[in-house]
Amino acid sequence: MSTGRRALLSLSAFFFLCCYVSLSHAQSFRPKALVVPVKKDPATLQYLITLHLKTPLQPETLTLDLGGAFLWLECGTTYTSSSYQPILCRRSQCSIVTTGCARCYTLPGPGCAPNRTCGVVPSNPFIAISGLGGLLEDVLAIRSTDGRAPGIQVTTRNYLFSCAPSSLTKGLAPPSHGIAGLGNRKISLSAQLATKFSFRPRFGLCLSGSSKHPGVLFFGQGPYMLRNLDASKVLTYTPIVVNPFGTAAANWEGEPSSEYFIKVKGINIEKKAVELNTTLLEFYWAGRGGTKISTAIPYTMLEVSIYKAVTAAFVREAALMNLTRVAGVKPFGVCLSPEGLPFTLTGAIVPEIELVLDNGETWPMYGSNTMVEMSNGALCLGVLDAGPSPLSSIDASITIGGHQIEDNMLEFDLGYKRLGFSTSLFRHGNTCGDFKF
Ligand SMILES: *[C@@H]1O[C@H](CO)[C@@H](O)[C@H](O)[C@H]1NC(C)=O
Ligand SMILES: *[C@@H]1O[C@H](CO)[C@@H](O)[C@H](O)[C@H]1NC(C)=O
Ligand SMILES: *[C@@H]1O[C@H](CO)[C@@H](O)[C@H](O)[C@H]1NC(C)=O
Repeated sequence: MSTGRRALLSLSAFFFLCCYVSLSHAQSFRPKALVVPVKKDPATLQYLITLHLKTPLQPETLTLDLGGAFLWLECGTTYTSSSYQPILCRRSQCSIVTTGCARCYTLPGPGCAPNRTCGVVPSNPFIAISGLGGLLEDVLAIRSTDGRAPGIQVTTRNYLFSCAPSSLTKGLAPPSHGIAGLGNRKISLSAQLATKFSFRPRFGLCLSGSSKHPGVLFFGQGPYMLRNLDASKVLTYTPIVVNPFGTAAANWEGEPSSEYFIKVKGINIEKKAVELNTTLLEFYWAGRGGTKISTAIPYTMLEVSIYKAVTAAFVREAALMNLTRVAGVKPFGVCLSPEGLPFTLTGAIVPEIELVLDNGETWPMYGSNTMVEMSNGALCLGVLDAGPSPLSSIDASITIGGHQIEDNMLEFDLGYKRLGFSTSLFRHGNTCGDFKF
């Protein structure tokens, strides 16, 4: 197939179009960065943002999906906006999404132009289902920032997203009725904002572990001020790697995954290497394997042999530290008694887990990120068994979930193809809830 060449050609068309549009509507104010609060829904453990879309502007609550390809929402029959445009197949924006044309069978509307609409495949990673949706553009508004506090709201007129059938919103935390995808795609939220406001493609994500104090998502350059700390200054970097195979619920052959993978070479517990089948840490078969970061699961999931090795090593080290193991509390298998457990700024003092990264860096994880406090008081190691690969529904061998990245500043820099991570901000006495909204 000539998908590659077609994508390349249309990409240049897209850049031409985008830059022409942004010049002709040049705003007198050019923001350096944008900001939006990220709320944690305590019932579903999903991370929600609210953006303003349409004309007149209306707040739309969406669930964040770090690896999602683009923004989609349920348009239903109540989509009211004077500014939307369905994207026709022949328009250049359509060719940047490799999906192609769809005939839509409903009445003409936001996601449905007469005859031939540009079709995309919106996915809901929480229920692992994809659907068919039409691409459209409309106004999007978001707050600017100097990195210290929110500034004036800025708008873009031609924001590309998709309508999705209401069946796709199942499993989303109300009032969310769509997904804001930040993945590695030209039409993801982060990529479009970077293009439209002429930033380097870069965003900073700081998820709060507290549902009372929202975390923060920055688009564009730092600083990322969390009270007194500029979290953009305390980052360690590791390369972002591209998985050449798609990992969404529906994929197009030859299209790489929109999710963010990093190269983990090993896992240390109390500085001792855990013995792992290192084949699983590579993309060893059709995109299976490797390590990705996901906001679509609340806890890290490990392929079964990695899960067994990590939990066994953790139990061994916990015994050496004289910590008392108690019965597992679903869904977790390894739990400790809180009695007499010492605490520091970074949570309970338990065996320290470290990801050993490709470039010799390590990503240490402390009690606040590794342990989950259960209703009976037990502290459980917050990792789950993903089952055997490649049979499991989980494609990566290690999927780092929400709990493990909370109160860590993460910067996804697509220009430099690297991930910056702060490790626990608690070490500095800060949290992701510290941005002054
Ligand atoms: C849609 O298709 C019909 C039949 O092919 C044609 O008559 C009509 O002009 C088309 N409408 C548009 C907007 O292209
Ligand atoms: C390591 O994992 C791969 C992929 O699942 C498997 O084919 C191989 O047999 C495993 N090696 C060992 C020593 O278990
Ligand atoms: C654990 O307990 C043993 C026996 O009471 C003691 O010798 C050892 O020093 C303790 N280890 C730690 C890390 O506290």
